[in-house]
Amino acid sequence: MDNASTLSRRVFLKGTLAAAAVVGAGCAIDGVFGEPNWIECPEVPVAVPSLLKAFVGYRILHVTDIHMGTPGSEDRLHRLVEICNRTGCDLIAFTGDFVSFKKSIGGLSEALSQIKRPPNGMVAVLGNHDHWTDHNALRKTLERHGIEDLTNRGLPIERAGSALWICGTGDLWEDRVDVSTAVKDAPPDITRILLSHNPDVAETHVFPEHRISLQLSGHTHGGQVKIPFGPAPLVPSAYGQKYRAGLVKAPHTQVFVSKGVGVISPPVRFNCRPEVPILRLVSCGIDRGPGAL
Ligand SMILES: [Fe+2]
Repeated sequence: MDNASTLSRRVFLKGTLAAAAVVGAGCAIDGVFGEPNWIECPEVPVAVPSLLKAFVGYRILHVTDIHMGTPGSEDRLHRLVEICNRTGCDLIAFTGDFVSFKKSIGGLSEALSQIKRPPNGMVAVLGNHDHWTDHNALRKTLERHGIEDLTNRGLPIERAGSALWICGTGDLWEDRVDVSTAVKDAPPDITRILLSHNPDVAETHVFPEHRISLQLSGHTHGGQVKIPFGPAPLVPSAYGQKYRAGLVKAPHTQVFVSKGVGVISPPVRFNCRPEVPILRLVSCGIDRGPGAL
């Protein structure tokens, strides 16, 4: 091998290593300072069986995993308030992990006070991190801002003379999950939407007799880091990648899993932007009685 050829190989190798270092640094900077603050607000059509005509096009803003107190969370919360007030949804549904630290409940409260109440109000369940802080103080804060705590209970939402049932459960890891109690007062033919922080509830606690049309969950954060065209290495679910993110078919219902607003440590997102989705209810064409599409 001559000297010129050895030299060109060295130059090529150095160039490749330098490029890899630049790409790696770029990804690290994006993962820490860029992507965690780049909130998406996708509108997702969700087909619901036996949806009453009054609820076709009904829009639910799904907010989850704010994790107030983690790096960057104050800026994200500011942006979240702007999204809540701009999108003009019919209902805001929170599915837990509002805070990561007890001391952050005050900041959360201030932000909640700036959200304009949508026509059908705001409902919530708590997540595991909320229980690891001060869930009693958090519940009082939610109550003060008119946010209905749906832990193992439900209530009707009325629109143009029709109604759907919105209900919730306690957190799977830290509280009691009782779907039967949450739907016990629901009329038999009513559309039922369940809030549950942990999507695994759809596998372990939702059965055909509950007739849940849709479950809304968070908890997984989409894995926070997702390999391009590959899996997310860390998804806190007993069912692997199944409930990482998006609309998922469960044994006895369908689950929308949001990637959430915030992060847990390490406070990084890569190929997994935070989101505040708008779920738009559409008919799936199954006629199950008078008034249903
Ligand atoms: Fe979370």
